[in-house]
Amino acid sequence: MQAVIISGSRNPSGQTATAANAWLKGFASKEGDVELIFLPQSCIERCRQCEENGWGICRTEGQCVIEDDFASIVSKIRDADAIVFATPVYFGDLSESIRAFLDRLRRVCRHEAGRAGINGKSAIGICVAGGGGGGSFSCTVSLEKVLRTCGFDVVDLIPVRRQNLQMKLDVLRLTGEWLAAQI
Ligand SMILES: Cc1cc2nc3c(=O)[nH]c(=O)nc-3n(C[C@H](O)[C@H](O)[C@H](O)COP(=O)(O)O)c2cc1C
Repeated sequence: MQAVIISGSRNPSGQTATAANAWLKGFASKEGDVELIFLPQSCIERCRQCEENGWGICRTEGQCVIEDDFASIVSKIRDADAIVFATPVYFGDLSESIRAFLDRLRRVCRHEAGRAGINGKSAIGICVAGGGGGGSFSCTVSLEKVLRTCGFDVVDLIPVRRQNLQMKLDVLRLTGEWLAAQI
């Protein structure tokens, strides 16, 4: 049983990582293996909107023309049983790195070949508002929209605020245990 956590934070010991690690602990306690990927440490270009009509081979082949870390991360998603997307809340929305990744993923998922191994896969969203604490809910709405456009089965979305992070760690751990039991 394999899960991948894709983090849009650059800080491996920050609040987003703390939240992601709580989920990981729950999933791992049920014998699940978890790989944690920090997107800002990967090379993920933004979409080039290749052709004049705004599309590219994403539409016709379900692949992206850009040669960076995108394809290898998508391959890990396809091989996993469940995916967690964890983002710090920036301006009440997704971080730039997770946005760039999901902007490209939703395009390749328009094609049957691109959707393979992604469509219907269980996904969980975690949005950590670590500043004033505002914007975690609007961020979960953004995340749900793009994950559904990709075709994921979004089984839970967990808004976290700096002020309730400690309490949410228990919720995250239990959610990891719960999802492991579903798989
Ligand atoms: C550009 C930017 C925008 C931010 N916007 C918000 C926000 O809307 N609400 C909030 O509570 N915190 C906001 N923050 C604070 C981040 O949410 C906080 O730094 C993040 O949760 C920390 O996660 P990390 O420790 O994983 O980096 C913002 C931070 C940055 C850099």
